[in-house]
Amino acid sequence: MAGWNMNLGALFKGQGRRADARAAATAAVVQPMVRGGHRGAADKGSLPRFQATASDQLNNRANDRFASIRAKLRHAFTPSQPVADRRMFAGREEVLKTIIGSIEDQRLHVVLYGERGIGKTSLLHMLTQAAHEARYIVVYSSCGANSTFDETFRAAAVDIPLLFHSGFAPTTTEAEKGSSLADLLPSEPISPRKFGDLCTKLVGTRVLIILDEFDRCESGAFRRDVAELIKNLSDRLGRVQLVLAGVAADLTELVEHIPSIRRNIFALRVPKMSDTEVLQIVSNGEREAGVTFDTHAGAYVVALASGSPYIASLLCHHAGHVALDQGRSTILASDISTAVGRAVGEFQGRIGKPAQAHVRRLFEQGRGEAMAMAARASLTSDGAFSVSEIKAINEVDTRKAQAVVDQLTADGLISQVDEDEIERRYAFIEEGLPTYLWISWAQQNLHPETTPKSRATAAAAAS
Ligand SMILES: Nc1ncnc2c1ncn2[C@@H]1O[C@H](COP(=O)(O)OP(=O)(O)OP(=O)(O)O)[C@@H](O)[C@H]1O
Ligand SMILES: [Mg+2]
Repeated sequence: MAGWNMNLGALFKGQGRRADARAAATAAVVQPMVRGGHRGAADKGSLPRFQATASDQLNNRANDRFASIRAKLRHAFTPSQPVADRRMFAGREEVLKTIIGSIEDQRLHVVLYGERGIGKTSLLHMLTQAAHEARYIVVYSSCGANSTFDETFRAAAVDIPLLFHSGFAPTTTEAEKGSSLADLLPSEPISPRKFGDLCTKLVGTRVLIILDEFDRCESGAFRRDVAELIKNLSDRLGRVQLVLAGVAADLTELVEHIPSIRRNIFALRVPKMSDTEVLQIVSNGEREAGVTFDTHAGAYVVALASGSPYIASLLCHHAGHVALDQGRSTILASDISTAVGRAVGEFQGRIGKPAQAHVRRLFEQGRGEAMAMAARASLTSDGAFSVSEIKAINEVDTRKAQAVVDQLTADGLISQVDEDEIERRYAFIEEGLPTYLWISWAQQNLHPETTPKSRATAAAAAS
């Protein structure tokens, strides 16, 4: 990434002098931009139609010679859904290997945490497939604000057949009837001890219980009970292991009561993707959809994604459709630029109206550069960031980084969230702001011609 940072640092260094010119240009940045590919008003009598039926049959009447590529493109880049198809899953080999090793070799419970859209659920899908191959029983559950211990683990017990309980031989009537562990649970709410007891009776199988979106549950009691279950299972060498995943800047934010179970868990912050991994998202899509990204387009996606698989997938998705709309199956850097415009519109819709108006004013006052620097630091460091992080990521000096913090704090766009022994840490006032600000700034200031094509070729060579 060094080459890229240098490049961006250089870009930022030149920005101060161009603030006025940019202020005028940025009035346009913050307008919703949904453009390209759509005809203004629908032709009389020909309202837009779906291109494929619900059973994925192509609509022959649509008269689109790219209809089948379009259909494949939808499957190739799924920005609004996690990846469940192994062929579309890019990179992350080391991460997956480490998670599997800690489950298999150390019999640890796993906690995955990291920012929104970094790829936690996609990783969990791949882990599930690998575990299924090894004949594990895998129970996946997505937590909600009102999740309770009783409801979550009762549902998990339904997926564990009774024939794996040491008290029931496979030939007993109950086991043959297809009963499950849930049939042994009492009707009153179950406790971690009760569920743990049942788990220690399992033989001939291993079970992974995955609790995704763990951060969404609001009940302290639920989190405490899950920690207690982890302790209980670890002390008694149970054949059940938990995998928790959620959005958090650090582990303690996700799992309360961590001191009591620290030795029993393997915690991993899902990292940003490398250039090579982002490029693999691009090349997987090329292969699956039968399209080609030219080298400039690939390098541009890598630069804009800044390590985020979500941004990469979103831009590739939009750019692919833009190119097809223009009768091309080769995607050019200009298509990525159009895709960025669409993405800005989408991201803008996800932040509150007052914040939108505030940001628009700040862009007009020439704060774009400061906001982009802080946004990039925020995206790279899972939300909270310090002056040193702004300095390192944007390759600017301490004075400049401190000025960014002072300016944006005074503007009410960021606020201090904590302070460790070394430094104060700050965060944007709204979750969606860093992505929006970064892409808005990039739309105006990062251009294909300033993105070294060598990044894409170097990353491709390294893969
Ligand atoms: N390894 C990968 N290869 C290809 N695309 C990926 C990969 N990881 C994530 N993505 C893409 O990034 C986006 C976000 O992924 P995912 O939903 O897995 O993230 P998440 O961390 O679970 O997000 P959230 O915190 O919102 O639940 C999806 O569009 C997915 O298609
Ligand atoms: Mg997820």
